[in-house]
Amino acid sequence: MNYLTEEQKRRVDELLSQMTLDEKIGQMNQESPSIVGGFDVPFEELIEMMTDGRISKEEFGNIMSSAKQDFHEDAIREGGVGSLMVQDPVKVNELQKIAVEESRLGIPLIFGLDVIHGFRSVYPIAVAEAGCFDPELMEATARMAAKESRASGVAWHFAPMLDISRDARWGRISEGPGEDPYLASVFAAAKVKGLQNDRSDTDNYVAACLKHYIGYGAAESGRDYNTVSMAMHLFYNVYLKPFEAAVREGAQTVMASFNDLNGVPCTVNEFTLRKILKESLGFPGFVVSDANAIRECVVHGIAEDDADAGVKAAIAGMDMDMGTEIYRKHLKEAVLAGKVGMEVIDEAVRRILSVKMWLGLFDHPYVSEETMHRYDTLPEEHIALARKSAEESIVLLKNENDILPIKKEAKVALVGNLADSREEIIGAWAMSWQEKDCVSIYEGMKAEFPNVRYFPCGGPEGDINESEVLAATDYGDVIVAVLGELVSMSGEAASRADITIPGRQRELLERLLTTGKPVVLVLMNGRPLALEWENLYVPAIVEAWHLGIQMGPAVAAVLSGKKNPSGKLSATFPYVTGQCPVYYNHPNTGRPGSKSKFTSRYLDVTPGVLYPFGYGLSYTTFEYSDLTVKEEQDGLAVSVKVKNSGSCGGTEVVQLYMQDVAASLVRPVKEMKGFEKICLESGESKVVSFCLKKQDMGFFDNEGKYHLEDGLFRIYAGGNSRDCLTSEINLEF
Ligand code: NOJ
Repeated sequence: MNYLTEEQKRRVDELLSQMTLDEKIGQMNQESPSIVGGFDVPFEELIEMMTDGRISKEEFGNIMSSAKQDFHEDAIREGGVGSLMVQDPVKVNELQKIAVEESRLGIPLIFGLDVIHGFRSVYPIAVAEAGCFDPELMEATARMAAKESRASGVAWHFAPMLDISRDARWGRISEGPGEDPYLASVFAAAKVKGLQNDRSDTDNYVAACLKHYIGYGAAESGRDYNTVSMAMHLFYNVYLKPFEAAVREGAQTVMASFNDLNGVPCTVNEFTLRKILKESLGFPGFVVSDANAIRECVVHGIAEDDADAGVKAAIAGMDMDMGTEIYRKHLKEAVLAGKVGMEVIDEAVRRILSVKMWLGLFDHPYVSEETMHRYDTLPEEHIALARKSAEESIVLLKNENDILPIKKEAKVALVGNLADSREEIIGAWAMSWQEKDCVSIYEGMKAEFPNVRYFPCGGPEGDINESEVLAATDYGDVIVAVLGELVSMSGEAASRADITIPGRQRELLERLLTTGKPVVLVLMNGRPLALEWENLYVPAIVEAWHLGIQMGPAVAAVLSGKKNPSGKLSATFPYVTGQCPVYYNHPNTGRPGSKSKFTSRYLDVTPGVLYPFGYGLSYTTFEYSDLTVKEEQDGLAVSVKVKNSGSCGGTEVVQLYMQDVAASLVRPVKEMKGFEKICLESGESKVVSFCLKKQDMGFFDNEGKYHLEDGLFRIYAGGNSRDCLTSEINLEF
């Protein structure tokens, strides 16, 4: 493991040589506080209940402060626990003290938590942030999250979530970087750098945990935890890509996914864990199971009982058990019976101790009094970064007759009860934020528009308040309707069979539109939605996702024109749900969908998609011209001219795609190969150049063999994956 110094490696080896089998297995055991007395619900589920909205943050807080909890102190003292999920720094120190000062070998605990898109300073959910197409920003927000959590003793983030998903019914599409392997790989590398690379001080970095390895986003029919069957060329060319990029960047840990992949649950999958991850990719860190996943292998039907599941997981290369205590209870017996080799245990423990060593936990196990409260009041630069990432993530989907931006003095009727919520701006999987740091859309709008008035009218659940609708339409010169999904409608265990705007919100829109006043739809949601109707009838649509603590000011800045929107979609928006899964980089088929009958289409949906991957408008317009493609020794020099042809300055994400026109395996109609974000003043032009390396123009076959095949390639450049200039070139490799 080349990320440790020789001295550190020596310390790990020495420790390992002193450990009993029980102590070794203890390191492979992760616990979370269990609630004792009258509760059937384990801690992980309570956290899930809070993050998916089944209980509020306050209820969670009340339960945690009033219920008696078991923090497994005795097991820690015996050396039976390697890791815990705790976020209170005082508790962290208390438990760490037991591990360091009262256990025989004094091995520190590693505290892990779901810090998916921010700790105190919550920034946009990943599907939104990926749409910034800005790796530096992605890295910066991760660095901020690392510092904030490490100050509380959380040295391990269960992030980044790197599941590519092509099916917006799947609620967890919100947590990941969208549908494209190239963008997801850029995101993956940036996040790992941000979390891990500032090692100037142990306060500044954490260990990343790449999840969910692998294929989880391809759950059949978008239903969470569902089975996954995929051709191996997709495994290599699509789903593995971001994990590969993150491992290359030095990611320290990986979490296996719940799903089975082609019949073998990823928790006990020797092929994915040992052969691909540890051997082929050379991943040096450790793998943790997902919560309860080892036990679930019995339910999957791949293990007879807990003990059998533990044996299978350990043999497959699962180094740490999250939450079941199966390793702790059964692994020793399995080793003594010769079912699991001692080398399997030693390897797992060496990996775990090495990550702890890399984190500096042996030398700095405690949270200092000084850092503990460092982020109770957020620093200005953290707020500014949360604001910037929120602004950059907003995608303008439609703007008929330049309704937007709205004039400052306009009488704005702000409609929809999501607009006045601080909780609903945060997004799925965030738990360490403070309400005082959140700015709702209404609060943001008040600061920007002196004549804004708020009329709740209705929301994702419940009825429409008719009198408020009348008052709103009577008052506004322009109506801004903030509609969409509750946080609990995306994230884990939040798949939807119908991804239109939920509840009676479409009806509410109809009421607002009948007045003939201009209506702007601001969407708050955790997944692509099916917006065929809205696109037909609403003149302006802004995709604002769940943007985190600074959502309010960010939305207001875009609506007022202070910020010219530049976000793009990281995942395709279909016309209707029935098109899912739907994605831009699909194979062509022998009969691409068109208006003629015998083509790959639905009778009742317009062929194509509503808003494709990479799509997003601006208050200005960009013209593309002069696409040139020249062959050079190692690659293609591609350039394209982009002109700001509108009346104000703006930012554009210039996108490069290619197609391998004929190959030994059917290749996608387009594959992203690069992008560059540029700023142009009105009337200004710029030639954007890309170097597309020949080495990156190939593909993996079903056996995992990489092919670079001679022949015709199409090169595309444009402002989204659909509307591109194109050129062709013949290549011999
Ligand atoms: C289950 C989720 O799938 C995973 O993403 C999370 O990290 C763990 N629970 C721990 O909370």
